[in-house]
Amino acid sequence: MQHKTPIAILISGRGSNMRALIESCARPDYPARIALVLSNNPDAPGLDVARAAGLTAQAIDHRPYKKDRAAHERALDAALRAAGVDYVCLAGYMRLLTPFLTTAWRGRMLNIHPSLLPAFPGLHTHERALEAGSRIHGCTVHWVTEGMDEGPIIGQAAVPVLADDTPDMLGARVLRQEHRLYPAALHRVLAPDAAPAAATSDCLLSV
Ligand code: GAR
Repeated sequence: MQHKTPIAILISGRGSNMRALIESCARPDYPARIALVLSNNPDAPGLDVARAAGLTAQAIDHRPYKKDRAAHERALDAALRAAGVDYVCLAGYMRLLTPFLTTAWRGRMLNIHPSLLPAFPGLHTHERALEAGSRIHGCTVHWVTEGMDEGPIIGQAAVPVLADDTPDMLGARVLRQEHRLYPAALHRVLAPDAAPAAATSDCLLSV
């Protein structure tokens, strides 16, 4: 049986990337297990997905903390430590982090972002890629550092931009690759000696 590193997943919404990680972690040979799912949003649909999969899923609502982001993060940090997790995967966690959390988890916190960083950090990445006339778009898994969407890149998956793409069509194409990339990138981090994922015909995945 493969040693499984305990991880947490932080979400804010539907949690489809979380679901991809749940499916990978269910495999006996995958090097992670999910010890905790946390959300800043008590209404995040992903919390129900996690609970239905038998996972511990907890909401720590940011709203009572008002502008005190660090106080909210101290509560997150306490929950992560109580669960004994070694790595944290941000998966559609839509809060800017303060240096408190990024420093506390430096080298142990990953994020997935829906663009080929360093292009298009921030929001509305698919609209911006179309507006810019990009011919290639994609997604990135990177280490979390203090700057938003700036940390060292662990892996990327690229997709073509097609002539008639709308932001939704392009976003759906990218999301399919996010679901492949995140498990592959986390695998790379936790089991660096394993063979890297190969490029496939529908995209280029590099971790
Ligand atoms: C994903 O596309 C993820 O890359 C993006 O939010 C979506 C969450 O979807 N994250 C960011 O934009 C972070 N800057 P999901 O909840 O279905 O995984």
